[in-house]
Amino acid sequence: MRINKYLAACGVASRRACDKLVADGKVTINGKCAELGAEVNERKDKVAVDGIPVAMQTEHEYYIMNKPKGYVCTVRDDRDRKTVMQLLPEGVGRVYPVGRLDYDTEGLLLFTDDGDLAFRITHPRNEITKTYLAKIEGTIGEKELARLRGGVELDGKRTGKSIVKVIETDKTYTRLHVTVKEGRYHLVRRMFEAVGKEVTFLKRIKIGELTLGSLERGKVRRLRADEVFYLKNL
Ligand code: URA
Repeated sequence: MRINKYLAACGVASRRACDKLVADGKVTINGKCAELGAEVNERKDKVAVDGIPVAMQTEHEYYIMNKPKGYVCTVRDDRDRKTVMQLLPEGVGRVYPVGRLDYDTEGLLLFTDDGDLAFRITHPRNEITKTYLAKIEGTIGEKELARLRGGVELDGKRTGKSIVKVIETDKTYTRLHVTVKEGRYHLVRRMFEAVGKEVTFLKRIKIGELTLGSLERGKVRRLRADEVFYLKNL
């Protein structure tokens, strides 16, 4: 298979953009700089872009959901509550949610049967950022913001540094973007609780730079190849 076709099939970019990557000397085949029009044996050759190995899409499946509140992120709930699995369309394979969002939290939730990717995204060591839109009642002072950013103590363990930005505020409410690298239980809600604020609305809006786009609440779509490629190289 031609190198540009192969790279496009791996979800790197369009064929034309892949030609440019090759022309710019960013692509290697078995460690050697690839030439325009080079042929790849997709079963044997090792191809890399900017030193990052790429591979053809496997048989794995990847989906993104805009989770509504009122659903649990488990396959079955012992309290008989609705589960996110019930929102998956018919015909989706044996995929599982990647990490969890609380019953009352909405937003970006991934599903896959690719255990490696799920592990990489959820393992705290990899420090993959997750960004939330949080709403609290009233206002928040610089002192509380500084505490949130620097880390607060939860269960005797300090949370890591986070990025906290006020997006919108008036006397009655404040909306913030909160970017964290951990996945502890009720993390964002408990961080605010620690500075005396209650989160009244919470939505995950990003994993790394992956966003929901225009996906409506409760809807699910397959991830595009470039999105899968992005996640695999996070
Ligand atoms: N932090 C929370 O408090 N809840 C979530 O669902 C995710 C992060």
